[in-house]
Amino acid sequence: VTVYVPRDSAALAVGADRVARRIADEAARRGLDVHIVRNGSRGLFWLEPLVEVRTERGRIAYGPVTPDDVPSLFDAGFLSGGAHTLHLGPTEEIEYLKNQERLTFARMGITDPLSLDDYRAHDGFGGLRHALTLKPEEIVQQVLDSGLRGRGGAAFPAGIKWKTVLEAQAAQKYIVCNADEGDSGTYSDRMVMEGDPFMLIEGMVIAGLATGATQGYIYTRSEYPHAIATMNEAIRLAEAAGHLGGFKLEVRKGAGSYVCGEETALLESLEGKRGIVRAKPPVPALAGLFGQPTVVNNVITLASVPIILARGAAFYKDYGMGRSRGTLPLQLAGNIKHAGLVEKAFGVTLRELLYTYGGGSASGRPIKAVQVGGPLGTYLPESQWDVPLDYEAYAAIGGVLGHGGIVVHDDTADLSRLARYAMEFCAIESCGKCTPCRIGSTRGVEVIDKISQNQNRTQQVQLLRDLCDTMVHGSLCAMGGMTPYPVLSALNHFPQDFGLVNPDPQ
Ligand code: NAI
Ligand code: SF4
Repeated sequence: VTVYVPRDSAALAVGADRVARRIADEAARRGLDVHIVRNGSRGLFWLEPLVEVRTERGRIAYGPVTPDDVPSLFDAGFLSGGAHTLHLGPTEEIEYLKNQERLTFARMGITDPLSLDDYRAHDGFGGLRHALTLKPEEIVQQVLDSGLRGRGGAAFPAGIKWKTVLEAQAAQKYIVCNADEGDSGTYSDRMVMEGDPFMLIEGMVIAGLATGATQGYIYTRSEYPHAIATMNEAIRLAEAAGHLGGFKLEVRKGAGSYVCGEETALLESLEGKRGIVRAKPPVPALAGLFGQPTVVNNVITLASVPIILARGAAFYKDYGMGRSRGTLPLQLAGNIKHAGLVEKAFGVTLRELLYTYGGGSASGRPIKAVQVGGPLGTYLPESQWDVPLDYEAYAAIGGVLGHGGIVVHDDTADLSRLARYAMEFCAIESCGKCTPCRIGSTRGVEVIDKISQNQNRTQQVQLLRDLCDTMVHGSLCAMGGMTPYPVLSALNHFPQDFGLVNPDPQ
């Protein structure tokens, strides 16, 4: 009998290793033949460790399982899908999972992340096989036609970036995967690296074929030890099996600075220097790593490429709305009952994610504010929860989708404190290269403190708005340039938290 116990960090954090050991011990004690597969996570984090059993009726799920539940699971005949208080029924029928549109995460939690056979059996390398029959410009055209935009947050068309690198003349070009996932409440990059690493490798090899790059780097953070170990092993296996062709691929570990997720600071760090932002232009597509033409794409962008090449641009483009094509893996976090990964086509609303998927707040209290798009994203009040998640629709309300992070706060949250935190975060993480960010963030903390203490409140609010204006327009990168987003959205939508009775939205 095959039993699945996830190896994803989120499952490990709540005891998946101990559960796996206990299942092995209990099976041995009872003389039962059990084969344990350490799969990726399905992304239903509130049910982790989520144990599955393969039966004739498909995979049956149980969760959340503790080591002490294991004997009773055996007593209940869980190896044949028997009834138990933790029994969740067929995994694919769990509503949270059933109603998603999993394209990039189609294999997530289903396969053994380090089994090439499993990967091949679940459509793996189909995209690469097709790419190998195409000319570089034809691969680029597929990516252009699919409408794929950068999933790291900036939503720049991936095909245009690839085309720029393809057309650049250089002896050496690079593919750099930005896996320095630093946004609060985000984990989709980590899940891909831990749960379906061959998909990322396949996407990077295709990017190499499309642009003429022969060397790839995956830049990730030291906080992701499991992702690093899994990626390294997956690269070794894929290379040994000949799937990389002439492409060289390595993992590089950063020290966890937020700004090293900014592409030019990342390149500096990759070159062995301090992670400080470079002025653009030139864009990395023309002069990137070691001054050479470089594709810098987020994990999810590259991981979306195999399915586009395998199923065709039209198939992918059919999902989504407006200029936001395909799907986005949204990550529910914070004060939410059912935290986890929801991959949906663009156009889903926040309200649907919060209630249909998320089940409301974890505390049971009313939800007050939701920060979408990481620590530099805006706080959305309830009046904005019906706006479709689409890059342009969010831009129209002053928001960003970013990397798909959604952090929920209930009615006990004080938005003036969260605004202060945004400035403080910027002060800590600033690379220091430009004044609006380096000095402005520290001044911002002070001004918000004065507002909270009611020292010349009206004047200080105006000062805060002026400061934010300077940061937005005068900063060199998104760190200083977007910190005002959470600050001003807090001030405009929740003025009462700043002691302001008459809101003055600008
Ligand atoms: P950007 O708009 O400057 O650039 C977007 C991308 O397009 C870059 O790779 C740039 O090099 C490329 N590009 C622009 N013009 C080009 C051209 N003509 N030819 C070829 N390539 C071109 O945005 P940036 O500063 O790279 O990213 C900002 C975003 O990052 C924010 O919107 C934020 O949501 C996101 N972010 C994501 C984080 C995460 O953890 N994933 C953390 C912090 C911010
Ligand atoms: Fe550095 Fe901040 Fe300026 Fe970005 S905005 S270059 S992080 S000082």
